[in-house]
Amino acid sequence: MTEWISLIRDVPDYPQPGILFKDITPLLADPAAFTTVVDDLAEGYSFDKVVGIEARGFILAAPVALRRGAGFVPVRKKGKLPAETLEASYDLEYGSATIEVHADAFAPGERVLVVDDVLATGGTAAAAVDLVRRAGAEVVAVTFLMELSFLPGRERLPDLDVRALVTV
Ligand code: PRP
Repeated sequence: MTEWISLIRDVPDYPQPGILFKDITPLLADPAAFTTVVDDLAEGYSFDKVVGIEARGFILAAPVALRRGAGFVPVRKKGKLPAETLEASYDLEYGSATIEVHADAFAPGERVLVVDDVLATGGTAAAAVDLVRRAGAEVVAVTFLMELSFLPGRERLPDLDVRALVTV
């Protein structure tokens, strides 16, 4: 059931001229479509915790965790988490970005599903995987709502189970 794909809206020239932005807000506003996506992101995997990547990843990862009886762990942009953190940096087109996770977010060997909305260059997801592993947990899979076909993001996630529900 992938009728929900039609609920991803193209917005031209956002956030910059020449960029065609894939807006998932109409999909999120449709409870049946949202439920299908949440279930498909985790179908077939078993895990103890779900990691969501700030900010749009949170919207998908938290309901995945609740529906599957798993815990939710936020990976946030630097400076947003209050307790001791681990951090990972990755390159952007101009400059770099840093994300963090709480150092005590996982018990040793816990099984983790990493969820985000979009796989583009893969830098964000690769940094999140690095954080989970350094925090002592095991990454079961990395799942995305969308994968951008014109970028080699998967190459940044070698030897991992990578699932995207739709390629655009
Ligand atoms: C977007 C998206 C992914 C990331 C993908 O997040 O939500 O997290 O970029 O890009 P990459 O594969 O090239 O790393 P963004 O930083 O725009 O943050 P937001 O979710 O807070 O809007």
